Amino acid sequence: MIAGNWKMNGVGASLGEAYMIAGGLGDTTARVAICPPATLVQRLAEVLADSAVLVGGQDCRPEASGAFTGDVSAEQLADAGARLVVLGHSERRAGYGETDELVAHKVEAALRAGLEPIICVGETLEQRRGGQALAVVTGQVRGSLPDALKGKAFCVAYEPVWAIGTGLTPTTPEIEEVHRAIRETLVAMFGEAGRGVAILYGGSVKASNAAEILKADEVGGALVGGASLKAADFLGIIQAA
Ligand code: PGA
Repeated sequence: MIAGNWKMNGVGASLGEAYMIAGGLGDTTARVAICPPATLVQRLAEVLADSAVLVGGQDCRPEASGAFTGDVSAEQLADAGARLVVLGHSERRAGYGETDELVAHKVEAALRAGLEPIICVGETLEQRRGGQALAVVTGQVRGSLPDALKGKAFCVAYEPVWAIGTGLTPTTPEIEEVHRAIRETLVAMFGEAGRGVAILYGGSVKASNAAEILKADEVGGALVGGASLKAADFLGIIQAA
């Protein structure tokens, strides 16, 4: 899975980039997704209807509907054409105080609406320097993944907070250490089914480092921010997969 997270970037004119991405997939065997801002989900789903590129949301509220000004539900994303949703991104955890418990409720909402969740986890630089990276990440996996995921399709994305948008990336052994710990946790939680879950890496993935990252042990794809905004950059990553 190579998923692009456009964050709060993109207007109607950006749909052309998505169109070029869909047209440039070539013979990739990777699943490819674009998660645009909520304003573009429907139009992007229309543009990509005949392509293999999936459309995803970037967040959802646990409730299906109601008096929640400014929020979007999983049902609304699905109705607009989304098939996936990114949940628990560190920009939501840090900026909106999202806890593991809230993320788990959002995951349940996504499943209720038929969306495949991509659940993000990752440590801060302070936590890594304090030797807590594995404990923090595996704790987030345990706390953010509800039992309702049993038998369902989902991905986990390991995104070290200090690597997001900074140009910094962990070394391959550092990535592998965390991905193996996430795998062990998934197997402990979901049994053998936990082995089939794709664990994506995210944080400053670009065409020039994608091949190296994607061949690392237990890395099953990438969640890409900045480098997913331009077709040429994103296609370079997809081709490395
Ligand atoms: P970045 O963002 O690729 O711009 O570092 C990744 C993410 O936040 O998903």
